[in-house]
Amino acid sequence: FQPADLSNIKIAITAGPTRESIDPVRYLTNHSSGKMGYAIAEAAAKRGAHVTLISGPVNLATPANVERVDTDSAEQMHQAAMDAATNHDIFISCAAVADFRPAEIATQKMKKKSGEDEMVLRLVKNPDIVASVAGLTEQRPFTVGFAAETQDVEQYARGKLSRKNLDLICANDVSQQGLGFNSDSNALHLYWPEGDKALPLASKHELGQQLISEIIDQFKAKQH
Ligand code: PMT
Repeated sequence: FQPADLSNIKIAITAGPTRESIDPVRYLTNHSSGKMGYAIAEAAAKRGAHVTLISGPVNLATPANVERVDTDSAEQMHQAAMDAATNHDIFISCAAVADFRPAEIATQKMKKKSGEDEMVLRLVKNPDIVASVAGLTEQRPFTVGFAAETQDVEQYARGKLSRKNLDLICANDVSQQGLGFNSDSNALHLYWPEGDKALPLASKHELGQQLISEIIDQFKAKQH
């Protein structure tokens, strides 16, 4: 049994990958399926929260009672996140946002050139969505990030927590098989300035529920 106790709380969540176009038929992306972010959205909505799910391109059904905003590129996701951030209490950045995008998008399909065995694609940095939200000076939501790491998980996660000015970060060790990207299970380690807590291996659905409880506790503690 889950109480519908979050009906006065608005939560925005980003989920899934982004797609960075190279030309009309090609793009750069990553292995995020959206399952983790969608599970968090579902858990929050089941407890009665008003949930806005800012989604990258994924193959998942929208959870019940969730308002979904579809985006493709990091720049589109950034715009949607900034539109939503100031009228939500909590912002959770679970999306695997491409750090870089092609400097130019070719208007026509790029062609192989005879005699050339290499090509160079110039990339430019994308906006950091969660850092932009956490940097708001007015109506800043309680801001939660994720960290996908393959080594030195605590050190890198704490680095992101402070550099991006987050309230809480959820680290996953994506070097472990069966966890993280595109799996049905995950394990998270939460870090905040004064503490940390491990959420051991569980289904993403179970973890979504545990994570919402932890985030709500921290959010409420910060209100006082
Ligand atoms: O989608 P699934 O298949 O279920 O997989 C879940 C997951 C592994 C993608 C998820 O649990 C996860 O770890 N998401 C964050 C992945 C990531 O991009 O981590 P990062 O360490 O590169 O980024 C750190 C934080 O900054 C993240 O909150 C990310 O959303 C955010 N970010 C990063 C770059 C950028 N330009 N904008 C951002 O907002």
